[in-house]
Amino acid sequence: MLCIGHRGAMGHEPENTLLSIKKALELGVDAVEVDVYNVEEHLVVIHDRHLSRTTNGTGYIENCSFAYLRSLDAGKGQKIPTLKEVFDTVDRQAVINLELKGTNTAKLAVDLILEYIQQGWSYGDFIVSSFNHYELNLVKTMESKIKIGMLIYGLPWGYLEIAQKLAADVVICSLDNISLDLASAIHQKNLLVWVYTVNQPEDMITMKELGVDGIFTNYPDIF
Ligand code: G3P
Ligand code: CA
Repeated sequence: MLCIGHRGAMGHEPENTLLSIKKALELGVDAVEVDVYNVEEHLVVIHDRHLSRTTNGTGYIENCSFAYLRSLDAGKGQKIPTLKEVFDTVDRQAVINLELKGTNTAKLAVDLILEYIQQGWSYGDFIVSSFNHYELNLVKTMESKIKIGMLIYGLPWGYLEIAQKLAADVVICSLDNISLDLASAIHQKNLLVWVYTVNQPEDMITMKELGVDGIFTNYPDIF
């Protein structure tokens, strides 16, 4: 079972910052997960649509300028990182799971991944995920070799057919909804099962017993 650092290691450092990512790497994660928006054609790493919870700024992220975002404090003096800075920080020490939160992110994400692949990185160094399955479909259409993770919450009707249509590699389920039946149904289609967000040791043990292939956690140290 893979340990995926959620927004870096957000149980220890400000989420989605380079400090958080460095902490996750220090704790030996197999992968790090970050959330991505497009701001003035720059991919930036932040979770919420609004700046208020995680920064000293105000307003909706997609209405702000890139320069304004970069002037903000995302915790402990950290800037809101660009996705490129995340790639350079991870530097192939772990898989990078970029979750496309904002719209119009697929093309920029594919371009950046391909730029790094041209520099010698491999397709296995990345996985792109999203609850926005249209955005995921764009990724696969642009470059079928990029791995994708189809995020779901609850049990959307027909999710397995959609996962197959998308040619997804992983179905990423919520801890609220995972069960042996769900994990088995996904495995029967030769897809992997990852689960978010698993912070309690007893839940980690249960995930292992269910045959889950990877968990997102705020606390890689507990894993
Ligand atoms: O990708 C798993 C998880 O990160 C999805 O939920 O809200 O933490 O982005 P959220
Ligand atoms: Ca996420």
